[in-house]
Amino acid sequence: MDKLIIEGGIKLKGEVTVSGAKNAVLPIMAATLLTDCACIIKGVPDLRDTNTMIRILRSLGKGVEFDKGVLTITALKNTNCVADYKLVSTMRASFCVLGPLLGKLKKAKVSLPGGCIIGVRPVDLHLKGIRALGADIHIDSGYIFAKADKLKGAHIYLGGVYGSSVLATDNVMMAAVLASGRTVIEAAACEPEVVDLAEFLIKMGAKIKGHGTPIIEIEGVKHLHGATHTIIPDRVEAGTMILAALITKGDIFIKNVLLKHLGALIDKLEEAGASMRKEDNSIHVKYRKPLNAVNITTLPYPGFPTDMQAQMMSLMSITPGITIVTEKIYPDRFMHVAELNRMGAHIQREGPHAIVEGVRNLSGAPVMASDLRASASLALAGLAASGKTSISRIYHLERGYERIEEKLESLGARVRREKE
Ligand code: EPZ
Repeated sequence: MDKLIIEGGIKLKGEVTVSGAKNAVLPIMAATLLTDCACIIKGVPDLRDTNTMIRILRSLGKGVEFDKGVLTITALKNTNCVADYKLVSTMRASFCVLGPLLGKLKKAKVSLPGGCIIGVRPVDLHLKGIRALGADIHIDSGYIFAKADKLKGAHIYLGGVYGSSVLATDNVMMAAVLASGRTVIEAAACEPEVVDLAEFLIKMGAKIKGHGTPIIEIEGVKHLHGATHTIIPDRVEAGTMILAALITKGDIFIKNVLLKHLGALIDKLEEAGASMRKEDNSIHVKYRKPLNAVNITTLPYPGFPTDMQAQMMSLMSITPGITIVTEKIYPDRFMHVAELNRMGAHIQREGPHAIVEGVRNLSGAPVMASDLRASASLALAGLAASGKTSISRIYHLERGYERIEEKLESLGARVRREKE
C-alpha cells in the first residue's frame, strides 16, 4: 500500500483541468449492457473504479477497450448474467449492473454490495423498484437472484428515509427502458449524474422524460442501439480544486467545470466571503481575504453535496468562528473528524452533526484515509498545514481523483508517493 506525503504551506497557483465524472461514467458503463451494439464513451477518467467496472463488464461478456480517455464497449457472445462478489464488494456502484442485466437478459445474479465505512448503505430501494417492474427477487448466499419473464412498466415511489437514491434511480431507470409500457419514478434523484445517464440512454434509443426532476417518465422500447457520449465534468473534483485554492490562500484557474452543478457549494463559499470569477466552463478562484465560518447541511441535489462535506470541513477547520456541519445523507460519514483533529483541528462530533471551531493553523501529522472524500479532505488539510503530512491507504483517493498527484504538483504542491 502506498502513502502520500505532502509538505504543506504552499500557496497553490496555476491552471488545472477537471476530469470526467466518476459517478456519471460508472452507471453509463453499466448501461452498455442493455445493447449488443458498440458504444463509445469519451472523457472517461482513468480511475481505480473505472478499471473495476471494466473488469466487471468483461466478466459479463463485454469487449472493452480503454485508450486515452475513450472507452469502446462491444458485446461478445454468451453474455453472462453473474456479477461476482469479489468485484462488487470492492465498489458499490457495480450493483447498478442489476437493472441493465435484468432489462436485457431478464435474469441477473448480482452480489449484494454490503455496507462501507460511510454507513450501512442498504439496497432496499433498488429492489423495491425492480420488483415493482415485475421481477421476482430472492436473496441467497449473499447474492440477489432476479428474474422476470417480462418486465412491465409501473408507477414507483422511490423515496427513502434519507430522501432519493442516486444509484436506485439509475438501476430502476435502466431496468425500465426495455420494459413494456410506461414507468413513472416518483421521488427520483435529480443529481446531474442521473441526468447524464438518462441522456446516454436516450442516445441509445430510450424514451425518457423528466430526468433532472423528481418525476421521471419512461416509455419502454423493444431494443436499444449503440451510442457515443461524452461524460460530464466531475463536480466533486471541481469543488475539491476550488477548496484547494482557498485553503492554501492560492490562485487557481479551473477548467472544464459546469457551474450549474456547483450552485450550493459556490453559494456557501460566497456566503463565507470567497471571491470567484465564474466563466462559461471555468472558474478562477483567488484567495483575497480571510473567510468567515458558515454552517452546512448536506442534502440531495441541488442541496449541498455529501461528497463535498469532508473537504468543506477541512476548510472550515482553519476558518475563524464556529461551523456546524449537519450530514443528512450519511449520518455516520465523519471518519475524517478524528484524523483532522490529529492535525490540530478542533472538531466535535454530536450524532449527525460536527461542530468545528476554527483554529489558526493545522500541523502536519501521519493520518489515515478511510474513504474517498475523507482522503480528499486530509489532502486539503495537508496542503494547508505546516510541515509534513503522510496519508496512508491512499488507494482510496485513486478511486475518484484522476492523476491527482500530477495535478497538485502542476499547481506547485510538494507531494510524493511512498511505499508504506
Ligand atoms: C451515490 O451513491 C454516489 N455514488 C455517492 O458518492 C454519493 O455520496 C451518493 O450517491 C449521494 O449523493 C455513486 O454515484 C457511484 P444514495 P448511492 O443511494 O447512489 C439511502 C463518492 O464518494 N439508501 O443516493 O449509493 C442511503 O443509505 C460516493 O463518490 C437507502 O436507504 O447513494 C443514503 O442514506 C460515496 N436505500 C441515501 O439513501 C437504498 O436502497 C442516499 O444514498 C439506497 C440508498
